[in-house]
Amino acid sequence: MPGTPIVLLHGFPLDHRMWTDVAARLGGERRVLLPEIPTSADRLAEVGPTLDDAADRIADQLAAAGVRRAVVAGLSMGGYVALALLDRHPDLVAGLALVDTKATADAPEARERRLAVAAEVERSGTVDAVRGMVGSVLGETTRTARPEVGERVAAWIDAQPPARVAWSQRAMAARVDRTEVLRRYRGPVTVVVGDEDTVTGVDAAEELARVADAQLVVVPRVGHLSAVEDPGSVAAALAELAQRVDRG
Ligand code: MLT
Repeated sequence: MPGTPIVLLHGFPLDHRMWTDVAARLGGERRVLLPEIPTSADRLAEVGPTLDDAADRIADQLAAAGVRRAVVAGLSMGGYVALALLDRHPDLVAGLALVDTKATADAPEARERRLAVAAEVERSGTVDAVRGMVGSVLGETTRTARPEVGERVAAWIDAQPPARVAWSQRAMAARVDRTEVLRRYRGPVTVVVGDEDTVTGVDAAEELARVADAQLVVVPRVGHLSAVEDPGSVAAALAELAQRVDRG
């Protein structure tokens, strides 16, 4: 009997490739899906950039793929989308993994910064304004000991269409606080964080785990991109969660 499928939602400013090393370790009998967070321009005029719309479209994609219930795992922006899925499509979420992320909305200054970055990316027609993130999303140990990881992440960032980067910033700026949605959830939750994450650090993860009554996994010597920096540890945490879901 195949296990509950796992859906892996990527962070910003990246795409599904950030999960490929984790997905390779999960496979087996279990379906693992790596959707892009949908941002296509065709619907922008109708709905504007929101992660709620992205979540609705992922729910549609999963339904079309025959997935009615899944373990949903999201890293950072992917976590915001996972919480939007939980809020808007609760029957879909059989278990939840929140990886280097948070449930709160942006403070006004952070929102302003995002809107400024979106405007700059559109003005320049490049991703220059977010290229520097490669320095902040990787942990100190990875940056110093494994420069090839930084090169890989930089190449992923460079490959992002500027319109997608601008869309994501505006959508993240518009997101709402989902702490209470998470608190009400009764399914199994795992919170994962790199102990060198300086974007959404261990304190934030401990608070998230407390709210969700979740299992907390702190991955040593990695930063905000724990799933890229140590895919083995993150895959093990997700596999354990999926087994809990399968056991009911
Ligand atoms: C991410 O990794 O997805 C970003 O750090 C999310 C954010 O900008 O809040």
